[in-house]
Amino acid sequence: MTSTAITGIGELTTHDPELGTPRGAALVLDGERVAWVGPDHRVPPADTRVDVDGAAVLPGWVDSHTHLVFAGDRTDEFAARIAGEPYRAGGIEVTVRATRAATDEQLAATLRRHLDEALAQGTTCVETKTGYGLTVHDELRAARIAATAADEVTFLGAHVVPQDTDDYLGLVCGAMLDAVLPHVGWCDVFCERGAFDAEQSRRVLRAARARGLGLRVHGNQLGPGPGVRLAVEEGAASVDHCTHLEPSDVEALAGSGTVATLLPACDLSTRQPLPPARALLDAGAVVALATNCNPGSSYTTSMAHCVSTAVLQMGMSVAEAVRAATWGGARALRRDAGDGAVGVLRPGARADVHVLDAPSTTWLAYRPGVPLTRTVWRLGVRR
Ligand code: NIG
Repeated sequence: MTSTAITGIGELTTHDPELGTPRGAALVLDGERVAWVGPDHRVPPADTRVDVDGAAVLPGWVDSHTHLVFAGDRTDEFAARIAGEPYRAGGIEVTVRATRAATDEQLAATLRRHLDEALAQGTTCVETKTGYGLTVHDELRAARIAATAADEVTFLGAHVVPQDTDDYLGLVCGAMLDAVLPHVGWCDVFCERGAFDAEQSRRVLRAARARGLGLRVHGNQLGPGPGVRLAVEEGAASVDHCTHLEPSDVEALAGSGTVATLLPACDLSTRQPLPPARALLDAGAVVALATNCNPGSSYTTSMAHCVSTAVLQMGMSVAEAVRAATWGGARALRRDAGDGAVGVLRPGARADVHVLDAPSTTWLAYRPGVPLTRTVWRLGVRR
């Protein structure tokens, strides 16, 4: 195991209540973990020393919502949307057809390409979902491929409602779930008007929980609906989108352990309003920011884009947005505590470090759209 001392840090975001956001700090990475955090002048010896010359350093981004096992793109659908067509989740079928037609190697290469693209921008922990297979064979294939490269894998068999909804739900809650089980830690359901209703969604979540999976919900994306309430009632780790919330949804989230995962890049790309981040934070809800990278509603791997949008258009402070894109995502994945925690920098945390080409995280909003990632370590390995 080799150790690395990162010295000369201008502003260090730790998300550790005792360490805070010190200036003039240093970090030591030992193998896959952070070994030491403290003042620069006390840094212990290490095999390698990297001086970052006053740069801001923060935990790697935690992207807790993506759909990266897919083939093809939907440029035409996006262009039509920009010309005024509304977003219809029906476009998912286009990606399902392309994904089924692709080889394992093609799917794995596309996944790898997007993970590499994300890592180059400071994203060190990624959740990704199935959901473009929608047969037992194709969902299993997607789950298996996802598990070879992503940190967390979620089963999203309940993504599109077919004609024979009851039969399909039986499959999702039975044979499909059993097939993907060795490869996934989570189950998700698209609970929305035009997708699965509250009772159908509850059935999926309960079947998954009975098999030991953690729960997540796509909810309140295209209009008000039961997704948030369902997620809270079923004890889901997160409910994602949260674009159209009633005051009672905000209240329910604030009194729960369910993270509100906001996906502003998706809302911009689908011409939806941006989610009520301020109301959620002021009520005391835990908020995460994620990209929702997929070829239909949000084709970006840029967490920095989400952070700058959250600050410039959603009323979040820089500190809140950075926290939501690191610690918040970790919380949504239940990876925020214990040995190997992500989204934090403290001894014992995963050695996932993002050095900015900037003296302060404020530059993420001050210089939006400018690539500000200078150096990234993931699991102690420098990219
Ligand atoms: O999170 N809402 C459902 N699923 C994806 C959309 C995927 C697509 O359009 O391909 C989402 O936006």
